[in-house]
Parts: sequence; C-alpha cells; structure tokens
Amino acid sequence: MRLRRSGGETKHPRIITDFNRTLLLVADPDSLQASVAVRFQELFGSERVLILQLDSRQLSFLPGFSLGFDPSDIGGLMLERRGALARWLLVNESVLKVDQQRDVVGCLDQAERSLLSRLQIRVCVPLLVLNRLTGIMLLGSKDDKWRLSEEQADLLQALAGQAGLAFENAALHREQRDRLRRLYRAERLAAAGQLAAGVAHEIRNPLTSIRSTIQYVLPSFGESDQKRGLLQELLSEVDRIDRIVNDLLTLTRPTDFHPIDMNLVELLDHTLLLIGPQARKQGVDIVYPREQGELNLRGDMAQLKQVLLNVLLNALQAMPEGGTLTVSVAGKGGDGTGLQVADVRITDTGAGIPPEHIDKVFDPFFTLKKEGTGLGLSISYSIIQQHDGDIEFQSEVGRGTTVIIRLPVSG
Ligand SMILES: Nc1ncnc2c1ncn2[C@@H]1O[C@H](COP(=O)(O)OP(=O)(O)O)[C@@H](O)[C@H]1O
Ligand SMILES: [Mg+2]
Repeated sequence: MRLRRSGGETKHPRIITDFNRTLLLVADPDSLQASVAVRFQELFGSERVLILQLDSRQLSFLPGFSLGFDPSDIGGLMLERRGALARWLLVNESVLKVDQQRDVVGCLDQAERSLLSRLQIRVCVPLLVLNRLTGIMLLGSKDDKWRLSEEQADLLQALAGQAGLAFENAALHREQRDRLRRLYRAERLAAAGQLAAGVAHEIRNPLTSIRSTIQYVLPSFGESDQKRGLLQELLSEVDRIDRIVNDLLTLTRPTDFHPIDMNLVELLDHTLLLIGPQARKQGVDIVYPREQGELNLRGDMAQLKQVLLNVLLNALQAMPEGGTLTVSVAGKGGDGTGLQVADVRITDTGAGIPPEHIDKVFDPFFTLKKEGTGLGLSISYSIIQQHDGDIEFQSEVGRGTTVIIRLPVSG
C-alpha cells in the first residue's frame, strides 16, 4: 500500500474538491464518464482517454466512454479481468506509467502489450472501489515524450479513486431507477387487470343479448332497406366492444401460457406478411433485411405474434402519410453457455413520442389516438415479461421511434 493518495490530497485540495463537485452534479452514468474523461484530458493533457468498465458478467473490462480515439480502433476491444494488467493494477493500487515502467509492461500478456502500443497508451489507471477493480482508465498520447510527473501521478490516482466510486454509484442509481419503473408498470397492470376482470363480465352479458337481438331482427329488413345497413353497422360496433373487452381480459390472464419450440425469424416473417397490405395502402415502405437461419426459442406463438402485431401496427399508425418501416432481428451474446438473446428492432419514421409521454406508453389505457384503447402495449409488456424478455422504446420527436424487443433464445 502506498501513501501517495494522501500526499495528493494535501497538495491539491482545491482540484480535488472541484472535481468531486463535478461528480456530484451528474447522476447519469454515460454523462458522468464523459465529464470525467474531459476533466482528465484538461488536467493531465493527454489527448486520448478511454474508460473501460467491468461487464455485467464480471469477466472482462469493456470500453465505456472514449475521447480522442478512432472508434474503429476501440470496437471489440477488451481487457481480461484475470489478465496480467488488471491483476497488477489491483495489487499495486497505483497507476502504471507505460514508458517508464518497461519491466512491468514486459510481464503483461501479449495481447495487452500489443493493445497498449497500438493505441499509444502512456498511462493505465485503476478505478478501485474498496478493494475491487471496477474499471480501468487508459490515457494515451501520440507524443511519446508526454510524461506525468510524480505529483501528477499522485493527483491522478486520487481523482481516479473518486471517479471509480462515482461511476459505481451512478450505475447503482440507474439500476434502482429501472427496477422501480418495472415495479410501477407491473403494479399498474395488476390494478387495471383486476378492474377489467370485474367490468368485462358485466359488459359481456348485455353485449351478447344486444348481438342476438340484432341478428334476430335483421332478416325482417330487405337487402335494399337502409335500416338493414344501420343494423349491420351496429353489429360491427358490438364486435369492436367485444374485442376491447377481450383485450382487457388478456391483462388478467397472463397465465394462459402455451409455450412451444419456435423460430423467431419465421414468426416475424409471418407477421410482416399480415401488415403488408396496410403498409402499401398508407405508402409505407418496409425494409427488412431478413436474418438467414433460425433463432429458436420456447414461447407462446400466438402471444408473441400479438406483441409483434401491436408494435408493427403502432408503427404504421405513427406514419399516416407514409414513411419507412425498418425491421430487423438478430441474435446476440453467446458466451459458451448457450444462452443468447435476440433483438427484434422495429423502427418507424413517424412523429416520435415526446419525452413526457415515453414513460406512459406501457400504462393501461394510455392512448393519444381517437380510436385507441391504450391496451396494446400494456398487454405486450406483460407478454414479454412472461417470456423473460424486455421491451424498450427509443424515440425522437420529428424523427421516429424504435421499439426493441429482446427475448432469450436457445440458438
Ligand atoms: N411507434 C410509435 N410512434 C409514436 N407513438 C407511439 C408509437 N407506439 C406507441 N405510441 C404511443 O403509445 C400509445 C399507446 O400505444 P398502445 O398501448 O398500443 O395503445 P393504442 O395503440 O391503442 O393507442 C399510443 O397511443 C401512442 O401515443
Ligand atoms: Mg396500439
């Protein structure tokens, strides 16, 4: 254990307090990394800063925010958690000056050495929280004369300690927020479901008698009688109410679950065929670079089809004047355990969803449409939950909306 950190704190109290203040102001993990990277660049004069963070499976450090690097140099980059560099940083709890500590660099893994030289990394900084290494920061410069003084290295280490802690807090904060959001959605769904079940039965009985009465009197009017047309319109309205009531009941019956082995790509193909005519009618082009092969999963085909239809129809309804509907499906992951996820992405070029509405789209009965029920997405949400998946909206007003449906697949 070195004493450098306390040395740094006494020499640079001002910089450290200022830095801490910056950290306190930002709660979003991405902006936090960005502001830390910029501060480090300013304070230490390295043109390039790359922040790597432990991935969710805690196996490797992956790039988070980067400054001054060519994105193509960073794509696919990673450092092993059990690799020599990470271990050295953890044990020594101090920065590694690549050009001055050649003996240490000589003991790193081959892949790590070539990464450091390829990216012209001059300093590696551990991000430590208590005695865990939660991230690594790499400072680079094209100038091989660029050096950190001892004093700067002390300060760097002290600031990195604060930054590491702030990153972790921000990540926890985001996790907590997401969890609360899910809880809130689930609660709203449950409440709406209970209400719906009560009301649905009350509505269905009189609805059945209305329907049979209309059918009973219908033959008394001739084919050309205007009143016959009116009655037929009534019948279709009755059917519409019946459909809404059915939708409502779906909210209370998420247990009617019949999973089978199926291919997600095929399901998407079929569903897209269904909306083809409507898309053409509205002047919407469908762009669908079809995934070759299969993405297999165990799921309830009818329910998943309903989700895809809901989301695709919402996308079409967002483009009444035409536009482009881009659909893709791709498998991701594959860590050797056979567990993977597939992302279905559905993007429209419609009006987009204003930020104040985006959290509400999954609420039962939230709708901005004249004929809407506001149930499509709440039902979709509960179905996707039941499949251990996730559904997410990204939207920009004036540009359009992307819905990402994530489902676990078996290969
Ligand atoms: N692709 C989209 N573009 C813009 N707004 C959307 C989109 N998808 C959903 N929404 C918004 O979310 C609301 C709720 O959707 P949904 O639950 O399917 O109910 P409904 O379609 O009956 O309104 C919609 O009324 C609309 O305001
Ligand atoms: Mg809808």
